Amino acid sequence: MQNNIFLTLFVGQSLVKLSSVNSTNTYLKNQLSNSTPPAEGTVIMADHQFAGRGQQGNSWDSEAGKNLTFSILFFPDFLKISQQFLLNIAVSLGINDCLGRIIGKQCKIKWPNDIYYQEQKLGGILIENGLSGANLKWSIVGIGLNVNQQNFNGNNGRASSISKILHQNYELPELLRQLCKDIERRYLQLKAGNQELLKAEYQERLFGLNQKRYFKVANQQVEGEILGVDNDGCLLLSQNGKLAKYALKEIAFIFDKHKPKA
Ligand code: BTN
Repeated sequence: MQNNIFLTLFVGQSLVKLSSVNSTNTYLKNQLSNSTPPAEGTVIMADHQFAGRGQQGNSWDSEAGKNLTFSILFFPDFLKISQQFLLNIAVSLGINDCLGRIIGKQCKIKWPNDIYYQEQKLGGILIENGLSGANLKWSIVGIGLNVNQQNFNGNNGRASSISKILHQNYELPELLRQLCKDIERRYLQLKAGNQELLKAEYQERLFGLNQKRYFKVANQQVEGEILGVDNDGCLLLSQNGKLAKYALKEIAFIFDKHKPKA
């Protein structure tokens, strides 16, 4: 089903709503091999994903009809492969802009691209890229956002939703429209070369910035103060007065032991 009520230049101008699909990312990726591939900005959304995918091979489970699960197609051929983290920054900021207006400044970006409110996860992003030479050719940006779900079993109490925070439901189509507008704005900033501004704003909104927190590194518990991220998207920590940097697979946040320190 198509509609054009998005106040955007291209994101969401083509919108496909599915009642049930394995994964909107997988669906969109399959469409890329069509003789007429989808236009940039195409959004695929689903009421229910029966094999939703998360980062690092995890699954993404979302109660049918309660939340947003959607994917956006971009052609960021202006980005080198080595700059791919910038797309993650732009999309995370767009989501944070939107949710910041709805639930306030306590909405943060947990490195690398989770959306958090206080110590609880509201959403996540799974970006999958196709390459052409040294540059990106296409990116499928998959977004899962907990909106009106009330019960989260098996998440160690670390998942929440917009409705749990606001104590009222939020209209899904309206939220999708706002998100597409905010993500498009950040994507166009990236395309226009405003990388330093995007990096600075991403850093300012990082969950746990300048806090001492506990992490798991090589099966050991370590403590470190979050300083920011580097150009490759590695997390920068101050550990015992020394600068340490970690790639995604090298470090995990420990929540249970967290005691915020000044
Ligand atoms: C994560 O935090 O692990 C990322 C979750 C990403 C989930 C979204 S839901 C829409 C899109 N389709 C998928 O299968 N995954 C992403």
